Amino acid sequence: MPSLADQVVIITGASSGLGEATARRLVRGGARLVISARRAGRLEALARELDPSGARVLAVAGDVTLETDRLRLVAAAREKFGRIDALVNNAGYGTRGPVERVPVELIRRNFETNLFSLIALTQLVIPVMREQPPGPARGRIVNIGSVAGRIARPLSSVYDSTKHALEAITDGLRGELKVFGLDVVLIRPGFIRTEFIAAADQASAATMENAGPYAPYFEGYQRGHERLRLVAGTGDDIARLVERALTAAHPRSHYSAPAHAKLFLLLKWLLPARAVDYFVRLKK
Ligand SMILES: NC(=O)c1ccc[n+]([C@@H]2O[C@H](COP(=O)([O-])OP(=O)(O)OC[C@H]3O[C@@H](n4cnc5c(N)ncnc54)[C@H](OP(=O)(O)O)[C@@H]3O)[C@@H](O)[C@H]2O)c1
Repeated sequence: MPSLADQVVIITGASSGLGEATARRLVRGGARLVISARRAGRLEALARELDPSGARVLAVAGDVTLETDRLRLVAAAREKFGRIDALVNNAGYGTRGPVERVPVELIRRNFETNLFSLIALTQLVIPVMREQPPGPARGRIVNIGSVAGRIARPLSSVYDSTKHALEAITDGLRGELKVFGLDVVLIRPGFIRTEFIAAADQASAATMENAGPYAPYFEGYQRGHERLRLVAGTGDDIARLVERALTAAHPRSHYSAPAHAKLFLLLKWLLPARAVDYFVRLKK
C-alpha cells in the first residue's frame, strides 16, 4: 500500500474547510504538501502551524482561476519537492438562486472556479505525473465533487451543475489516465460544516435579494439547510476519504461521507425521478 510519507500532494482551497482539514490529516501521515488558496495570511499561518521548519509544507497563495497562478503553483511544487504525486482539486464555492434570475456571468464564474480552472490545473499536472520517474505511489488526482453532483436541487442548480459536470470529467479522465498508471478519484461530500454556506451567501446575496416571485420559498429552503445542519459532517470526515484515496493499493472510483450522503445517493439510485422531484421541490 502506498504511504503518505512517500507523497508530494498539492491541495487547492486549503485556507479553510475541507482543504484545511485535508492538509492537517495528510501532514500527520507524513505527506509533503503544497497548499494553495487566495487568502495568503490564512494559508501561510496554516503552513507555519503544520510545519514550523518549512521543510514539508509550502504555501503558494493564488487564485485557481488565473493561469499565471496555476503555472506558479505547479512550478513551485516541482522546485521545492522535485515531483508531484497527487493533486487534490478542492477549491470551489456555490452560487444560489432561481435559474431564471441568476445572471449568466455569475454562472460562468462558478463554472470557471469549480470546473474550468480545475481542468486547467489538472492539465498542467498530468504531464508532470506521467513523465517523472515512478515513485513508490502511483500518481493520483482526487476531485472533490459533491452529492450535489448527483442530485440537483431548486435554488442550487447552478452550483449543482458544476459538480454534475465534474462527475463526467472525472469519469472520463479516469479512463484516459489508467493506461499511464495514474488513478482518478471523485469524492462526494454531503453537508459538511465549513465556510461554504457563508461563501455561498456572499456570492449570491444580490441574486437572492432580486428573487421576485421565488422569494416566498426561501424560508422553506433555509429550513431544509437547518435540518441538514443537524446531520452535518466535519472536514475530517472528508479528509479521511482523501487519505484513503491516496493510500489504497487500488482506490475506488468514488467515495462519499458522511452517512446522510450515502443515504441520499442510494435513494437517488433507487427512487423514480418523480419521487426525487417530490422530495427536493420548492416548499414554503
Ligand atoms: N461544505 C460542504 O457541505 C460541501 C459539500 C459538498 C462539496 N463541497 C465542496 O468542497 C470544496 C471545499 O469547500 P468547503 O466546504 O471546504 O468550503 P470553504 O470552507 O468555503 O472552502 C473553500 C476553499 O476554496 C478556496 N477557493 C475558493 N475560490 C477559490 C479561487 N478562485 N482560487 C483559489 N481558491 C479558492 C477558498 O479559499 P480562498 O477564499 O482563500 O481562496 C477555500 O479555501 C468545494 O469544492 C465544495 O464545493 C463542500
